[in-house]
Amino acid sequence: MFEIPIRMERVLHRLKELAHCSAGKRGVTRLSFTSEFRQAGLLVRRWMKEAGMMVRVDALGNIIGHYPHHRRGGPAFLIGSHLDSVMEGGAFDGTLGVVAALEVVQALFESGVQTALPLEVVVFCDEEGARFHTTLLGSRAMAGTLLGEDLNARDARGITLADALREFGLDPLAFRSAKRDPEQIAGYMELHIEQGPILENEHLPCGVVSGIAGAVRGRFQVEGLAGHAGTVPMDARRDALVGAAEIILAVEEAARKSPSTVATVGNLQVFPGSSNVIPGRVEGTLDVRSLDDEERRRVFRQICQRAEGIAENGSLSFCCEVVLDTPAVQCSPRLMAAAAEAITHHGYPPLFIPSGAGHDALAMADLTEVGMIFVRCRGGVSHHPEEYVEPEDIEIGVSVFLEAVLRAMDSHPKASSTGQTEEAEVP
Ligand code: GLV
Ligand code: MN
Ligand code: MN
Repeated sequence: MFEIPIRMERVLHRLKELAHCSAGKRGVTRLSFTSEFRQAGLLVRRWMKEAGMMVRVDALGNIIGHYPHHRRGGPAFLIGSHLDSVMEGGAFDGTLGVVAALEVVQALFESGVQTALPLEVVVFCDEEGARFHTTLLGSRAMAGTLLGEDLNARDARGITLADALREFGLDPLAFRSAKRDPEQIAGYMELHIEQGPILENEHLPCGVVSGIAGAVRGRFQVEGLAGHAGTVPMDARRDALVGAAEIILAVEEAARKSPSTVATVGNLQVFPGSSNVIPGRVEGTLDVRSLDDEERRRVFRQICQRAEGIAENGSLSFCCEVVLDTPAVQCSPRLMAAAAEAITHHGYPPLFIPSGAGHDALAMADLTEVGMIFVRCRGGVSHHPEEYVEPEDIEIGVSVFLEAVLRAMDSHPKASSTGQTEEAEVP
């Protein structure tokens, strides 16, 4: 395996530039199809073009870059991550994988390496689901699992995904055209920050992801009766927020009692939302995850049953609509081996870690084999403005990722051998 230099100053500069594409003052807020998201996408497209790549944008706004002169045929190997963020998130979740994928492809090109298969960078439009609550929009469209009804998902202002796509200059009705042919794809690999503390505890800069937890996301509603905060006696109230508070505690209890499940109510809206009015309606989100799908579904059912009981006791009503249910995914043994060999070659023991967080690889597993490498982040902190990765770890992570991608392509049954191009030229 030959050594291919990566350019760290370029990687760090790009991470910094993307972090500036943000709304608000705390951390990074870059929800899909907003102006800051457009700004980030334009930067990525510019970098791809400056690097001599051909760039196209699919119907969902996923950005895809590749070098057109790959003279060997065969299915394409995809690498990438997502460009959207949560509200007040960090500067590395998703963007590290995007910048790393760009660097891998560009460094290989600049070193004159002819890869064993065509290599593409894919930059996904919405992994977080922070705007429309339904997640993995870009990767699900690419895998062919996005549904027409997903286009009706609404953001907090009532704008549908279809309208947001139109406003962004895309054609929502063409969403099926984003689907890729599995015969033409040789695998997908992603570099991502760990978003947890395991690597830091083990004093390791990176690790191999063994699998990704499945998730169910729901939107729930508790309905009571609004009334005057000064006149309705306490025992005559049907306070929806009091019911919701009890339900949240039941969510916490159900997850704590499960050996493998985590559950979160991450958003609540209280209506009519006035200090002198008893809350008549509460809307909220529920997110339940586990690597064990059966256990996750059991906990979700249990939460809903408990919530119905709580609502009944308070003369309230409860309903919950499932907006997403993605099963857990095991990473491909071949791609895990490629990642483990690359980590070993860089002098570290390969630690296998399951991912509690969702990733585009989860959706891409419906299309092709998937593999991921995690990079240590400070304190395991993520989805927070203080998310941070040491530059030394970024350098190791990107170098390991580059080697893992080469090994993954080399070990594919349809691979040609890796070699030098005749016309390697830095554009
Ligand atoms: C994304 O980061 C998720 O796990 O929800
Ligand atoms: Mn992410
Ligand atoms: Mn995230």
